[in-house]
Amino acid sequence: MNSPHFLSFLLLLLTSLHYSALSDSGTIGINYGRLGDNLPSPARVVQLLKSQGVTKVKLYDSDSSVLSAFSGSGISLTVGLPNDNLASAAASTSYTDSWVESNILPFHPKTIIEAIAVGNEVFANSATTPTSALLTAMKNVYTSLDKHNLSSSIKISSPVALSALNSSYPPSAGAFKPDLIEPVIKPMLQFLNQTNSYIMVNAYPFFAYIDNTDTISLDYALLRNSAAGNPDSGNGLVYKSLFEAQTDAVFAAMSAVGFDDIKIVITETGWPSKGDEKEVGATPENAAAYNGNLVRRVLSGGGTPLRPKDSLNVFLFALFNENQKTGPTSERNYGLYYPNEEKVYDVPLTLDGLNGGQNMTESKAQVPAPAAGQTWCVASENVGEEKLQAALDYACGQGGADCRPIQTEATCFNPNTVEAHASYAFNSYYQKNSRLSGSCDFGGAAHVVTQSPKFGSCDFPTGY
Ligand SMILES: *[C@@H]1O[C@H](CO)[C@@H](O)[C@H](O)[C@H]1NC(C)=O
Ligand SMILES: *[C@@H]1O[C@H](CO)[C@@H](O)[C@H](O)[C@H]1NC(C)=O
Ligand SMILES: *[C@@H]1O[C@H](CO)[C@@H](O)[C@H](O)[C@H]1NC(C)=O
Ligand SMILES: *[C@@H]1O[C@H](CO)[C@@H](O)[C@H](O)[C@H]1NC(C)=O
Repeated sequence: MNSPHFLSFLLLLLTSLHYSALSDSGTIGINYGRLGDNLPSPARVVQLLKSQGVTKVKLYDSDSSVLSAFSGSGISLTVGLPNDNLASAAASTSYTDSWVESNILPFHPKTIIEAIAVGNEVFANSATTPTSALLTAMKNVYTSLDKHNLSSSIKISSPVALSALNSSYPPSAGAFKPDLIEPVIKPMLQFLNQTNSYIMVNAYPFFAYIDNTDTISLDYALLRNSAAGNPDSGNGLVYKSLFEAQTDAVFAAMSAVGFDDIKIVITETGWPSKGDEKEVGATPENAAAYNGNLVRRVLSGGGTPLRPKDSLNVFLFALFNENQKTGPTSERNYGLYYPNEEKVYDVPLTLDGLNGGQNMTESKAQVPAPAAGQTWCVASENVGEEKLQAALDYACGQGGADCRPIQTEATCFNPNTVEAHASYAFNSYYQKNSRLSGSCDFGGAAHVVTQSPKFGSCDFPTGY
């Protein structure tokens, strides 16, 4: 065991733990859709978003009154170049030049624009939007941004619906539809890779759930801690949520066509609070549970089973119920807010909110909120003793956790297992770091819990 090889492995592990222990947690943004005739003014919307601590917003266009309202707000925007403009954008760079000149330059950087979504779910709308235009449009927008030195600070991508996958179950078998791969998927991934951008994915566990209520449990669809783990028969990784399984199906699909390094941003996900009779599960309680559990999951740090180091970056759908959307009842009921700015249900969007910084008392729905807003950090299962021990050593050493109680004969020595000791140390580190996002990760060896951990008679403090 004490071979130089093992030592350098350990050193590598510790170095990566050092960097990842306090690495960024994921980010939560929200989609500001405006298909309603009763929505508040953009200026009021910006105030509402700021009051909720929102730092990222996605738009479906680049409306000048909206972009102006976000000026100086500190909120980063992903703006949209709509499907209707794709053909023009593909036809010439003079179109994209003037689009950039009138939709980006007058606003950025006082209005922070971090990305442009070129088209939206183009493959799913291929009857009306030629997929062949997509890549050329993306490249033309890039060329036009580059003329102003903005091509590295503003990312270009295009939201892809999960319907672009031929298979998504098990996640390791994720694959794109064969007819999309050569014409658009590969060239697009190449472009994303070259420009250091990421793939935008719209993922709705809700749709998969309503089509498969006999095989998918509600707990699994709602990211509840109580969900039974779902092993992937292809690689043995265990999934605790459909959301993570869907995300990994996209990673697997990208790997299958030779792209292993492209990051994912989930540009839409959500759960409706109301639906038609056959849209089972569309209730305010389930919507609050889905969004609340997802926010908690994202802000606790760490990634998916396939990409444990890639923190999750997610935009919830959506800010408001939008009365002018067509389709089933659910379409008009994805909002966290009614147009009058009242909450449809309460979902804290920041760690501070989750930890009780905001009023949890008014919560109408059953987000499994921790008692008195408390959270703890414990060792994860199936990490392996070696990795756990290394993380434990780090926490007690460089990490500065209080590890006196787990020394021989001390109060938390029993049970004398690596899992119990690591949990104690991780929790100490997490609490000492003010439960900061990313401080309960340890390279994927730890996770946040909302119940006081039970290891013998050991008490897990929440204050140091
Ligand atoms: C773009 O950046 C380069 C190097 O940073 C600089 O020399 C050039 O003047 C910039 N061009 C514009 C249009 O800002
Ligand atoms: C597409 O999916 C079907 C079953 O869902 C599978 O049999 C087929 O092999 C898949 N094709 C490709 C190219 O992935
Ligand atoms: C992605 O980009 C990197 C750096 O530019 C390059 O080395 C790599 O080969 C690219 N990957 C693919 C699959 O094209
Ligand atoms: C919490 O709610 C109570 C009663 O509704 C209110 O008085 C108090 O100011 C609120 N606190 C915060 C931090 O919003």
